[in-house]
Amino acid sequence: MTTQQLDEAKQRAFTVKMTGILNYGHLALMISIGHRTALFDTMAELVPSTSQEIADAAGLKERYVREWLGAMVTGRIVEYDRETEHYSLPLEHAASVTRGAGPGNLASWTQFVGFLAAVEDPIIESFRNGGGVPYSSYPKFQEMAAEQNNRVFDATLIQRTVPLVQGLVDRLEEGIDVADVGCGSGHAINLMAKAFPNSRFTGYDFSEEGVQAGQEEASAMGLTNATFEAKDAATLGGPAQFDFITTFDAIHDQAFPGRVLRGIADSLRSDGVYLCVDVRADSDVANNLDHPMGPFMYTISTMHCMTVSLALDGEGLGTMWGEQKALEMLAEAGFSSVSVENVEGDFMNNYYVARKS
Ligand SMILES: C[S@@+](CC[C@H](N)C(=O)[O-])C[C@H]1O[C@@H](n2cnc3c(N)ncnc32)[C@H](O)[C@@H]1O
Repeated sequence: MTTQQLDEAKQRAFTVKMTGILNYGHLALMISIGHRTALFDTMAELVPSTSQEIADAAGLKERYVREWLGAMVTGRIVEYDRETEHYSLPLEHAASVTRGAGPGNLASWTQFVGFLAAVEDPIIESFRNGGGVPYSSYPKFQEMAAEQNNRVFDATLIQRTVPLVQGLVDRLEEGIDVADVGCGSGHAINLMAKAFPNSRFTGYDFSEEGVQAGQEEASAMGLTNATFEAKDAATLGGPAQFDFITTFDAIHDQAFPGRVLRGIADSLRSDGVYLCVDVRADSDVANNLDHPMGPFMYTISTMHCMTVSLALDGEGLGTMWGEQKALEMLAEAGFSSVSVENVEGDFMNNYYVARKS
């Protein structure tokens, strides 16, 4: 039997780390409030101001704003001048916490803390008894996914993502059939339909709410070449009717991802292309130690992506299924040629460009 010696320096260092986690975990919740109340956007427009001036400009109650500012100042997000009692948001910080930052707005992601905390009890129940927490337990899910992903679509989809596939822009301009599987609120389909009016676009999702949001946006944009259908992606299959199929962040949380990938392969014409955009990670946790958002992504997986799959008696692949597993599953589904690309402006995802031959 070996006895482990307590390394006191290691213990002290870990206590400091735990204290940091307590502070930053709670600070994340306050940053989420700053995002949702537009306090950061308001402060970015103001000269150094008092808590009353900030509250007035944001249309909020001063007492709450002052306490929130306390968290922001001690969290070193907002700067405070004790002489003038003025608060200011440095430009360099505004670049990561305001809506104007587009995909660079990391404050928007802190909303996941409250979003996931709401299902902590049923998740613990699943730790004990198995099963999962169903989509119906996440009433704000479509809204949250749209808020995170639409910023990336706006910044990258037409300009950088579509041109990743050689020859695709020309084919889309001539007129082809395109599907987006697990389309959520449909923004990707609508952006592509607007950019390529000669092509025909179909969005599939089993969320009625998502499909309806996609249809409403298509109508508001005056599009006649975008349609949406509520459909379980696991039921996709032949006849081959599409030239280009996409999935954005929509394979790793499937109940039966292998079945979905095979259905996508069967739905593609022989010269068709499948673009699978999914979380960039290694399939081995040991190689994710330097992943910039490792703990965040495994948490989202445990408390959403994996559990919604398990709730459907699915495989529970998980957000961090990783590149090796993705390549293995794409090959099993019949994609014999796959290249792994990255897109500037989207540090979260790999872009797998897959062909059947
Ligand atoms: C993380 S969201 C991504 C949504 C969208 N592609 C985006 O990027 O904003 C995953 C989507 O897959 C959908 N989904 C999950 N399983 C599905 C299934 N079996 N059939 C159809 N849609 C499914 C969910 O409803 C959800 O809208």
